[in-house]
Amino acid sequence: MKIRSIFIISLSFLLIYCKKKPEIGVITEKAMVVSARKEASKIGSDILKKGGNAFDAMVATELALAVAYPYAGNLGGGGFMVYRKNDGEIGALDYREKAPLASHKDMYLDSLGNVVEGKSVLGAMAVGVPGTVAGVFETHKKFGSLPIEEILQPVIDLANRGVIVTKKQEKRIREYQPKFLKANKDSILFDKLWKENDTIKYPALAETLTRIQKKGRDEFYKGETAKKLAEFIQNNGGIITEEDLAKYEAKWRTPIVFEYDDLRIISMSPPSSGGVCLAQIMNTIESYDLDQYGHNSVKSIQVITEAERRAYADRSHFLGDPDFVNIPLDTLISKQYSNRRMSDFSFEKPTSSEDISHGNIEMVESDETTHYSIVDQFGNAVSVTTTLNGAYGSKLYCSELGFFLNNEMDDFSSKPGVPNMFGLIGAEANKIEPEKRMLSSMTPTIVEKNGKLYMVVGTPGGSTIITSVLQTILNVHEYKMGMQEAVNQPRFHHQWLPDVIKMEPNGFSPKVKNKLKELGYELDETNSPVIGKVDAILVLPNGKLEGGADHRGDDTAVGF
Ligand code: DON
Repeated sequence: MKIRSIFIISLSFLLIYCKKKPEIGVITEKAMVVSARKEASKIGSDILKKGGNAFDAMVATELALAVAYPYAGNLGGGGFMVYRKNDGEIGALDYREKAPLASHKDMYLDSLGNVVEGKSVLGAMAVGVPGTVAGVFETHKKFGSLPIEEILQPVIDLANRGVIVTKKQEKRIREYQPKFLKANKDSILFDKLWKENDTIKYPALAETLTRIQKKGRDEFYKGETAKKLAEFIQNNGGIITEEDLAKYEAKWRTPIVFEYDDLRIISMSPPSSGGVCLAQIMNTIESYDLDQYGHNSVKSIQVITEAERRAYADRSHFLGDPDFVNIPLDTLISKQYSNRRMSDFSFEKPTSSEDISHGNIEMVESDETTHYSIVDQFGNAVSVTTTLNGAYGSKLYCSELGFFLNNEMDDFSSKPGVPNMFGLIGAEANKIEPEKRMLSSMTPTIVEKNGKLYMVVGTPGGSTIITSVLQTILNVHEYKMGMQEAVNQPRFHHQWLPDVIKMEPNGFSPKVKNKLKELGYELDETNSPVIGKVDAILVLPNGKLEGGADHRGDDTAVGF
């Protein structure tokens, strides 16, 4: 009997142990790509092995994700890149989608002024003018070292050869099939009941990529592809024209830079709210002893939640496309401002979101995503988040060209005070205007320590992106975790409204949850089974790289 009990106990331990995610990530000597699919990480890493730099690998990985990860990787979407070169030069590229010329403030409202359900989310009206092809070509023009033909070839080969369906992908495709049927007039590649280990080939996408390989960026924006794309969108009831495509430009931006203890954090500037909100939250929590309170302890969760609440309230009021609105950037990311915003915080009870509006700043006259991280063998770093917005974007799939189109228009505020698909409330600053970029939460980020490259980090997850990036940095810096361990940790999220702390189910101890409830916090463990899928790289003290690839997806680190 005793031996039997010992056997059962040992077996249980073994089972628990085996189920545990590995706490140490892939470690490489010189270079690494971490992305949502092994095929894309490998193509990026192979480009580096050939002698290409992080920017060449960016082009390859971005386009390989468009093939291997149609859930979020894209030609029909957009994104943001933050980079840090080995000489310390930093910068950011905005290849976010923009509103079509024929768009207007009330385009998603009915005659009574109510938001028409689904119009900004499903089908051709939800599509913003795509920026991805402009983004990769702009990156290559400025920093690329290998010929574009050479970088695109393995991506085209992958599209022709096909990509093996993973278990998670099988489930995702099945889940979204009813919406594919709703959004598309004809049947599409993804209507088939694809099973794990099947191979999906993408000949139409391979052809589009081959034309782009031969003719360059303008093929997508002014060539045959542009013509077909505009025609397809209009045939499906959308408003994007050839002129919209021809006018699209990616834009270089100045990243948001701020300090936290001995770290220097470089993150994405507007039209993403990512860097600004991250700076506001980190400025607010810097003076609290998070490491003393402990990881995911009640006090740490309180401080972080209250900082998030205030930053998201500001996001909603102040942030939008900087080419259209004046944003009081300097004030928002100053430590004094954040400290002032936190002056009414107490550990005794939550601040109510109803009592928190945006901060008072005197305005001076003058307003399903995926992330990958790359470090190359020369020490250059690239942090990129790219998206179609929702899973498979608008679900509208152009079979002739071989890709899904985004539903990024939903990131605008369709009507002040009415939440978008992430529950985010928008205001005037993020209203729809022709050629304006919609506000984003994407937070591609690079961290320096003592003047040297330390971490490359980012994630998908809509409004939870900012708080997932935050927690990953804190897990390493405050709670002394390695990269993979930091990525594995359960995450929580607060975004001002709704006034709840979202938590990953089963990630937090009943004791912590009960105490938070006792204090008056409302917890929500139901809505978001997954908060973020972080892909990150940490430079270890010996100079080697540790990858953090999120097991919540099929994410993989590859390098050498
Ligand atoms: O730009 C944004 O903030 C959103 N369109 C991101 C969407 C996203 O992360 C979806 N992935 N889960």
